[in-house]
Amino acid sequence: MRRAFRGSIFHCLADPGPRADESAVEHIEDGLLIVDDGCIAQLGDAGDLLAALDEQTPVEDYRGQLIVPGLIDCHVHCPQVDIIASYGEQLLDWLNKYAYPAEMKFADEDHAGEVAGFFLDELLRNGTTTAAVFATVHPHSADTLFAAAEERNMRLIGGKVLMDEHCPEELRDDPESGYDDSKKLIEKWHGRGRLGYAITPRFALTSSEAQLDAAGRLAAEFPDTWIHTHLAENQEEVDEIARQFAWSRSYLDVYDHFGLLRERSVFAHCLHLDAEDRALMARKGGTGAFCPTSNLFLGSGMFDLQSMSDAGVRVGLATDVGGGTSMSMLRTMSEAYKMLHLQGQPLPASRALYLSTLGAAEALYLDEHIGNFAVGKEADFIVLDTGGSRITERRAAVAESLDELLFAMIFLGDDRNVAATYLRGAKHGA
Ligand code: GUN
Ligand code: ZN
Repeated sequence: MRRAFRGSIFHCLADPGPRADESAVEHIEDGLLIVDDGCIAQLGDAGDLLAALDEQTPVEDYRGQLIVPGLIDCHVHCPQVDIIASYGEQLLDWLNKYAYPAEMKFADEDHAGEVAGFFLDELLRNGTTTAAVFATVHPHSADTLFAAAEERNMRLIGGKVLMDEHCPEELRDDPESGYDDSKKLIEKWHGRGRLGYAITPRFALTSSEAQLDAAGRLAAEFPDTWIHTHLAENQEEVDEIARQFAWSRSYLDVYDHFGLLRERSVFAHCLHLDAEDRALMARKGGTGAFCPTSNLFLGSGMFDLQSMSDAGVRVGLATDVGGGTSMSMLRTMSEAYKMLHLQGQPLPASRALYLSTLGAAEALYLDEHIGNFAVGKEADFIVLDTGGSRITERRAAVAESLDELLFAMIFLGDDRNVAATYLRGAKHGA
């Protein structure tokens, strides 16, 4: 089935970097995106391509609106959607007071399924077409999440959380059951359609050495699975890690020691790292998920994008809901800009979009499938409507360049500006 989409089309070809390298992006003012069987077949000027298009091919007309690749959230927690914006604590108290109680409710499979459906629809409404997602410790939480993603034909990396100590009894597995349940889930879901499995030790504080070791064995047995965890988010957490793993050189060294640092390892936060950690992460192919709304909300610290990039570490943007305060990658990009601005690091609009599309796809090792409109990739894209709210409409009317328009949309836009979300060329919710 062939379909075409006409509009102002923008995507990244490479990292535009802090100076907004124009050769790293492509903008076609009146463009046409042709999709065959859910994949990109052609992209070019509407005038040229329409003349050659078979007249049976339906053309969706989005002139006056902006078509960009689907947004990618590199780290987010499904069960925490119900405790987003909970007052007052930093990480360790916030986990105990809000996150763990919400996750305990996932013992009820029906509840887990209901939340997963709401959560994924909310991501899609915000223009997020791919996400790396924490479920809970309960194996059925991963089943319901994967089933809900499959039903929506959404690309999703997910996993059952591993946690066996320093957390509520009700949320504990053990090294053996965690290993066995994860293995069963890998065999059931990994590589099925658009789904991928992430071995998901919550963080080194809530796993015994035996559990980290089991997770590492599983990662070696299934080298094309992902590993998804948290790293160096909060100073109190980092200090506790140094006590609990007194033999380690650093927090990252703990994961590395147990075989949990390799390609497709995704580490949320990465705020309190040193140069040696960054060099090691780059060498082993690990990824940092930059979660600005969460880092500010939980008072955790600042992400140093420049040092990560200079070291050659892959970085993708992420909401980290419910520590993060918005499901919207547009909101997340604007908070990233502010956090970097405070550190004297520029974040041009094109690079913010890169970190949420092609850069995020590279960070998740999914760039052969998604991230931009290269021919053959899956046709996940969104339609951004500058008229979605009064303020974006007014601001867009005086924007003199695409760059100015994109920047304003990043700061002022939200789900109201996501007019449509397409998954493999099919409109979500249609
Ligand atoms: N570290 C360990 N668990 C969590 C979590 O659920 N959220 C955040 N932000 N950090 C964590
Ligand atoms: Zn998190």
